[in-house]
Amino acid sequence: MQKVYIYKKFERFWHWCQAALIFFLALTGFEIHDSFHLFGFEKAVAFHRSASYLLLGLIAFSIFWHFTTGEWKQYIPTFSKLQAQIRYYTIGMFKGEPHPTIKSVRKKLNPLQAVVYLGFKLVMAPMVILSGLLYMYYKSFDVNDMVVALNIPLEWIAVIHTLGAFLLISFVVVHVYMTTTGHTITTNIKAMITGWEELEDAEDITEEGKIKKSQS
Ligand code: HEM
Repeated sequence: MQKVYIYKKFERFWHWCQAALIFFLALTGFEIHDSFHLFGFEKAVAFHRSASYLLLGLIAFSIFWHFTTGEWKQYIPTFSKLQAQIRYYTIGMFKGEPHPTIKSVRKKLNPLQAVVYLGFKLVMAPMVILSGLLYMYYKSFDVNDMVVALNIPLEWIAVIHTLGAFLLISFVVVHVYMTTTGHTITTNIKAMITGWEELEDAEDITEEGKIKKSQS
């Protein structure tokens, strides 16, 4: 086992900001939806709007970062060992079997994570963001006959947005559970906070050459 610098500073900043913004958008969004009362409707709408702009800004920076660093390649889906990974999460890990794939700096995501995170980036996030923007600018689109041309009533946009919100929340719940399935319950969360993780793959050396031997 070796301690490897696996998550860079921006990656950690982006991950935790995105998590906080999604949580806050869900909180204010479901207040708008009238599921509960916390800030009051007007404030919830204003907060939801501001947080959505912050999320859009963060996503723009993260897209730039993923492409300039080549980190986007982590999300290329692979079907090799996908079945073994599903078997591990559903049966293997409860029997104490070893992980079927090895995590490394160049392969941070196992085959199941890669395909699910790609779905998050290509389906869930765009679904919520595009419907959210249509919702926000419906009046302007409407005046310019754009939504009318597409024939989408506002109610449908609200339903698609809320459905996307439910999908996103389900993703977060499963994601948080999955983070506890590392070497110990907190291994993965600690790694996303500090950047360092104990990995089995010794050939893992980051661009900065940050690799150090485990104390244990
Ligand atoms: C860029 C991202 C987003 C934008 C632009 C956006 C925009 C909006 C807008 C304009 C509304 C309607 C507010 C009003 O009635 O005046 C809304 C409602 C809502 N949003 Fe978002 N939103 C975004 C992200 C999210 C996220 C991430 C979630 C949850 C995970 C979420 C959950 C909701 C919910 C549940 C509603 C209430 C829907 C209804 O009952 O009509 N939104 N959003």
